[in-house]
Amino acid sequence: MQSFEYKKEQTEDGSPTLRLGPTWEPMHALEGAFTETLYIYQPTIRNALNASETARVLSIGLGLGYNEILFACETIKMNVRGAAIDSYESVEPLRTGFSQWIQNKPTELSSIYNDILSLYSKSYEISESTILQKLNSLYDTGTLRLYPTIDNTTPFQKSQGILFDAFSSKSSPELWTEEFLNSFLTIAADNVCFFSTYASQGNLNRALKNHNFNVEKKAGFGKKRESTFAQK
Ligand SMILES: C[S@@+](CC[C@H](N)C(=O)[O-])C[C@H]1O[C@@H](n2cnc3c(N)ncnc32)[C@H](O)[C@@H]1O
Repeated sequence: MQSFEYKKEQTEDGSPTLRLGPTWEPMHALEGAFTETLYIYQPTIRNALNASETARVLSIGLGLGYNEILFACETIKMNVRGAAIDSYESVEPLRTGFSQWIQNKPTELSSIYNDILSLYSKSYEISESTILQKLNSLYDTGTLRLYPTIDNTTPFQKSQGILFDAFSSKSSPELWTEEFLNSFLTIAADNVCFFSTYASQGNLNRALKNHNFNVEKKAGFGKKRESTFAQK
């Protein structure tokens, strides 16, 4: 595994987040990584799985895998068998770490993944081994796929759920330009599609409306002012 610079931080609901160098932006709201994930991304996963048993969900980016574990829990709870999740992550050790942990191979980040798993297990009342087995089988059958850095040429598949959990436009400016967002939504958003993100941003609003999404603003999580939910 390549080395990468990170610092672990405990957020206020007891769940872990990482800050990555060199910007040290935290991956989640410090008021609660787990609670924020449920607030912003659970409705989108549920809506996509309700719309189709074979829904494809797109996760940008993988980070610590909160959204991937959430997806596994929702497919178990909703008894959905044909759904898939594509996850993008530019930091190779995060992709390798998560895929090894899913396959029960110890990694540097295992204790962090285990802590997150334990929170999901309690919240969903599903055993840790059942969730891990689900992740393992999604990975083995190619229905949970981990992809590298997104750029202008990334061949996204049409998705019914989009979890847009990129770093802020300060850290990942390339993912927040109107040009990128327009071409991204053209390729990745299916005719029926649910989208959410922790952020609220003019370029994103315009691109979503341009692609016929109905955009709904909700209160932001923690100190953030507004979050964005959209559907078409
Ligand atoms: C806010 S964090 C994601 C947190 C994650 N959803 C979780 O629940 O742990 C954003 C992630 O996007 C990754 N990232 C940044 N730029 C990227 C790019 N161009 N392509 C793919 N991933 C990127 C970062 O390395 C980081 O792990």
